[in-house]
Amino acid sequence: MERMSKEKWTAVDQYISEQFIPPDPALDSALQAASSAGLPAINVAPNQGKLLMLLARAMGARKILEIGTLGGYSTIWLARALPADGRLITLEFDPKHAEVATKNIARAGLAHIVNVRLGRALDSLPHLISEAPFDLIFIDADKTGYADYFHWALKLSRTGTLIVADNVVRDGKIIDANSSDENVQGIRRFNNAVAAEPRVIATAIQTVGSKGYDGLAFVLVTGG
Ligand code: SAH
Ligand code: DHB
Ligand code: MG
Repeated sequence: MERMSKEKWTAVDQYISEQFIPPDPALDSALQAASSAGLPAINVAPNQGKLLMLLARAMGARKILEIGTLGGYSTIWLARALPADGRLITLEFDPKHAEVATKNIARAGLAHIVNVRLGRALDSLPHLISEAPFDLIFIDADKTGYADYFHWALKLSRTGTLIVADNVVRDGKIIDANSSDENVQGIRRFNNAVAAEPRVIATAIQTVGSKGYDGLAFVLVTGG
């Protein structure tokens, strides 16, 4: 049952990609290079990457912050929404991931827009105050840090900033309050922090597809 669903979700993702996302040398080679370097294939799916790009474009984003770079796949999608003088800062603590990402971003012609910052996100975030506010912030690093990243995202926001967080459903495990999975507990702390925050309007959407059953949270900063 589970397997059949995953097969169908993947086939439909394939169909959606064929309809809306033509072959793309920069994105395709970014995934190829990540795979060759042994990075895990935990990037967003193509249609999710395009959703991030579409949201950033709809907002007219000029400054984007990403927490969790991996091989730069979502980074490339997001950076493509930016104008020529736009800026994207992406935080990554694994030097190998950052190196693969930096090459992928350069190959995509986005090196002048994107800055990969090496280090633990919680160490890098305080240094971003002078570069704030960001128009869109994508949270996609370690799940145990999500609640902290949300608080930093708020600090680095303006009224109208959109915060998007990946992996907020985790196969439905998220509803188990007694879960012994620290990632699940991390996402639950994030969801609780968002729900308790009066300065935002928030929702979450379950997703299925080539990356399995998961979800995305959308948090609009209103300033209260
Ligand atoms: N956004 C990427 C996927 C990110 S995967 C995409 O969709 O293409 C999560 C990444 O966060 C991994 O590369 C991991 O090394 C990084 N990461 C995990 N913990 C981190 C931390 N504390 N600080 C910075 N990066 C971290
Ligand atoms: C996994 C997926 C992700 O999108 C991510 O950011 C981290 C981990 C996973 O499937 O393990
Ligand atoms: Mg993710």
